[in-house]
Amino acid sequence: MATGKKACVVGGTGFVASLLVKLLLQSGYAVNTTARDPGNHKKISHLTALEDLGDLKIFQADLTDESGFDAAVEGCDVVFHVATPVNFASEDPENDMIKPAIQGVRNVLKACAKAKSVKRVVLTSSAAAVSVNTLTGSGHVMTEDNWTDVDFLYAEKPPTWGYLVSKTLAEKEAFKVAQDNNIDLITIIPTLIAGPSLTPDIPSSIGLATALLTGDEFRVNALKGMQMLSGSISISHIKDVCRAHVFLAEKQSASGRYICCAVNTSVPELVKFLSKRYPQYKIPTDFEEIPSKPKLIISSDKLIKEGFSFKYGIEEIYDQTVEYLKAYGLPKN
Ligand SMILES: NC(=O)c1ccc[n+]([C@@H]2O[C@H](COP(=O)([O-])OP(=O)(O)OC[C@H]3O[C@@H](n4cnc5c(N)ncnc54)[C@H](OP(=O)(O)O)[C@@H]3O)[C@@H](O)[C@H]2O)c1
Repeated sequence: MATGKKACVVGGTGFVASLLVKLLLQSGYAVNTTARDPGNHKKISHLTALEDLGDLKIFQADLTDESGFDAAVEGCDVVFHVATPVNFASEDPENDMIKPAIQGVRNVLKACAKAKSVKRVVLTSSAAAVSVNTLTGSGHVMTEDNWTDVDFLYAEKPPTWGYLVSKTLAEKEAFKVAQDNNIDLITIIPTLIAGPSLTPDIPSSIGLATALLTGDEFRVNALKGMQMLSGSISISHIKDVCRAHVFLAEKQSASGRYICCAVNTSVPELVKFLSKRYPQYKIPTDFEEIPSKPKLIISSDKLIKEGFSFKYGIEEIYDQTVEYLKAYGLPKN
């Protein structure tokens, strides 16, 4: 129990952040969190439902507000910067995702520098900041030394390019601002996340991870696109991702970037696994154009060597996500 410690979670309404708030409260932290619309009961009801678990305060803040995070961060020992603008349908990714993500990093880190109490900041980055490159073949091992090729993304503008650029440039900016302001910054780099969510709606990443089960054609194509662009379908359980956030906040020896990925697979391998495990669902099988092996292995060796262990493998990730989806009438037979 980390009783007596106070944490701030930036962007508490999200899939990852809401479960992180819950885990922190259960671990004895007092928690300040931020939301853009704390007055919108539908959007924050899953957060207010956590108030019974401990000392939880909700502040209004937008990533683009220069001093918006000062009040939420003040007096905190650790700050988790989880929020990021996500708008895959955007026609203006530069203004809708890239600029606000970078601005948000600057605003949150400057609030941390001002607060004096903050001993460590954990920024939630993404495999989107590691895995996009022009390598060919299969079996390449990606580590924390790898960065997504932003020049390639700006030149080719493949689907989702704005999100991929925003995560890469925001993480790079975070290390720069942290160095300039003497902040102890850790970045955690999750891959695609699934598992039960507290949020009122099904998170988009769960929709993507379960596209082969729900048969949603748009998302099946997005999953194929993910493998073609990022080189693999790499997945973790939401609870492991949140446990890794807290682990990295508390582990004194931790420093720099940490990939957090439980399973590396491909669309064809996932089809085989899901067809065998859930024979009751109709799973599309026509993926001849997709390489059967992932191009990349996104390695969590550094995190594991630091002392973290994953609790959930592919079976638990999908069993629990399928159970969760049943409340929404999915997957359909
Ligand atoms: N889910 C995944 O598979 C996955 C994988 C790798 C990395 N990640 C990273 O993990 C983090 C959380 O992802 P998630 O899936 O939990 O996302 P999510 O459910 O879409 O939540 C996004 C959060 O960001 C907040 N936000 C967006 N724009 C904002 C702005 N301008 N100002 C303040 N807050 C803003 C949203 O707040 P509102 O309630 O105000 O909209 C929401 O709380 C992100 O950094 C993401 O890149 C996620």
